[in-house]
Amino acid sequence: MDFGPATFIKAEQVHEAHALETEAFSPDEAESLETFQRRQTEAPELFIGLYEEGTTNLIAFICSTRSAGPTWTTQSMKTHLPLGECVCIHSVVVAKQHRKKGIARKLLSFYETHLLTLNPKPSKIVFVCKENIIDFYKYLGYSYLGPSSEVYGSARWFSMEKLL
Ligand SMILES: CC(C)(COP(=O)(O)OP(=O)(O)OC[C@H]1O[C@@H](n2cnc3c(N)ncnc32)[C@H](O)[C@@H]1OP(=O)(O)O)[C@@H](O)C(=O)NCCC(=O)NCCS
Repeated sequence: MDFGPATFIKAEQVHEAHALETEAFSPDEAESLETFQRRQTEAPELFIGLYEEGTTNLIAFICSTRSAGPTWTTQSMKTHLPLGECVCIHSVVVAKQHRKKGIARKLLSFYETHLLTLNPKPSKIVFVCKENIIDFYKYLGYSYLGPSSEVYGSARWFSMEKLL
């Protein structure tokens, strides 16, 4: 399967990303469509997706906000600080049928390069993930910081970061 270049998610495409979010996360973890719409309005430069080549099928996306840091917090899910030092990733999702094909690796690599072009340039990427995904991010060069004290849904979360 080929995919086109990474592209900014437009306002009218937000519902497509939200459909992938609700497929990937349990109801107590998936974010609302309203939250996605707010992020696209406030931080469109941090909401990026990949479409299947020649189609309108969204197959992956990453959505973030900026914060003062130094780690990911649930507050960063609600508040975007345009000049914030840290990029707080809230979702990295690949459609179920397209996983294990290197798509997340490619999209994250593009995303990291894109972040270097922002003004002001963020100093690092921070986020939390579940235990079973820690090795995936380590493989992609992220550092594991330990269990997060943040409470979100019923899962346990672990802090990761990458300096830019
Ligand atoms: C996690 C997720 C984004 C990975 O997407 P993906 O496109 O399947 O990942 P990739 O194929 O790019 O994997 C990149 C590399 O990491 C490895 N990898 C993938 N998942 C892994 C895991 N859970 N543990 C360790 N390594 C993993 C792959 O083998 C691959 O290695 P390779 O490049 O040598 O083949 C995808 O499974 C997903 O959308 N999950 C649901 C949402 C989620 O949990 N997101 C993360 C938290 S926000």
